[in-house]
Amino acid sequence: MQFDVWSKGLATLEADCLVVGVFEEGELTEEAQPLDAATGGRLARLLARGDFPGRSGETLLIPDVEGLKASRLLLTGLGTRKKFGRKAFRKAVSSAVTALNRTRIASVAFAVTRPSFSDLDDYYFGRVIAEIVGNTLYKVNDLKSARKGKPPALHTVVAGPVRGAGATAAKRGLTHGTAVAAAAKVQRDLANLPANVCTPSYLADQAKALAKSQPSVKVTVLDEAGIRKEKMGCLLAVTRGSAEPPRFIVIEYKGPKAPKAPIVLVGKGITFDTGGISLKDPGAMDEMKFDMSGSAAVIAALTLASTLRLPLHVVGLIAAAENMPGSRAIKPGDIVTSAAGHTVEILNTDAEGRLVLCDALHYARRFEPAAVVDLATLTGACVVALGAHHAGCMANDDGLARELVAAGIRADDRAWQLPVTEEYGDQLKSNFADFANIGGREGGAITAAAFLGKFTQGLKWAHLDIAGVAYLGGANKGSTGRPTALLADFLIHRAGR
Ligand code: BES
Ligand code: MN
Ligand code: ZN
Repeated sequence: MQFDVWSKGLATLEADCLVVGVFEEGELTEEAQPLDAATGGRLARLLARGDFPGRSGETLLIPDVEGLKASRLLLTGLGTRKKFGRKAFRKAVSSAVTALNRTRIASVAFAVTRPSFSDLDDYYFGRVIAEIVGNTLYKVNDLKSARKGKPPALHTVVAGPVRGAGATAAKRGLTHGTAVAAAAKVQRDLANLPANVCTPSYLADQAKALAKSQPSVKVTVLDEAGIRKEKMGCLLAVTRGSAEPPRFIVIEYKGPKAPKAPIVLVGKGITFDTGGISLKDPGAMDEMKFDMSGSAAVIAALTLASTLRLPLHVVGLIAAAENMPGSRAIKPGDIVTSAAGHTVEILNTDAEGRLVLCDALHYARRFEPAAVVDLATLTGACVVALGAHHAGCMANDDGLARELVAAGIRADDRAWQLPVTEEYGDQLKSNFADFANIGGREGGAITAAAFLGKFTQGLKWAHLDIAGVAYLGGANKGSTGRPTALLADFLIHRAGR
């Protein structure tokens, strides 16, 4: 996709289609006025007749408009003026891209009224446009045997109007937005794959492929013997029931002027979670192929950092395994020793995410990191608490938590902070080991975080529980690509944007 900005002269812009926003109130937006003049008042007449009500999500394609250089006009609804903000703007742009994708239109100029500058500045204007175009054109990498449809015709997008210094900022936003959408695609493609394809070894191969294409990225993969050498007893406990071998994946990116202390991103890479001996109910169990979404987001974030050559030092750690029942599988009541040396009583084998993560978090210490952020589809309790709208953000450092929450707001990929005070940790008491791996029904998302907190003392650490946001079930089943946009914004901001 080619992206650029435009500054003036909409009526004489050469494109297959111009996209203009229309409010429900029906009066012409500032961007639409020159078009209306050039077409002899056609737009105003159309709106006056009520042919396009301007409701959010609706579009109307008008072919062969006399008086314009562009051959078509696409109206997209902005909703009411009062409710117009970034959300309605996003919806207007994505609806337009969906409509364009049903045609063979190849080049388009966006002239959609923007929310106020404080809601969407020139940089984020560019970023939102490129992100939405990329995300809307995303097609699931399905394995259907029917012949694939044609690839999207759309290949050139110009967005505006932006003027002066704003054009530079918007172009930068377009570049970053393109990278964010590409990274989200990396996450979605990996997470959408079935678990018989996307195994721990497959994740390792994807990381190696990234290192091959980006010289600034180095990858080390530990196999089961290597994992044993690191004494990762909790990761080994989870993988025991499976014939599929585990992998521990280390991805290191060093950008120009990279600081010594890295940001370490840790991903839960459970390529399938049956629950183990504490077997899950069969309903929707297939969705547990998405239980590696955190690790896919780590690979996505390192893809983004390296393609944008961000001046950062980022280390990705992925603990990848399958959680299966079997004659060798761990049993409720088994006690294992973590890499950090703590003993853990596994009261529920379905609380496996925290087990693989605790060994990965311990591994992070050797990098003397500036910050550690783990990403995990960790608890159903987080889905109950926050639904599919916010990821749960829990941390032992309020500054880091606030930084992530702020990144989520800017990226429209939001997270909400939950408290992790010591009382929650007390719920993990065990009669037989240092702690149990579950803390009861109450505050389940937080006791899971408190478990991880036992392994991150002295580090600046935050945990994103993405169980509710990483994928959709039902008719639109599939990976959402979240929280890649949040992570991308966090990294881009750390890099000084
Ligand atoms: N992968 C699941 C969490 C999950 C649940 C993700 C629903 C997405 C949707 C995790 O491994 C798990 O099974 N957690 C248990 C923990 C419990 C046994 C303490 C849960 O949430 O039920
Ligand atoms: Mn589980
Ligand atoms: Zn799980």
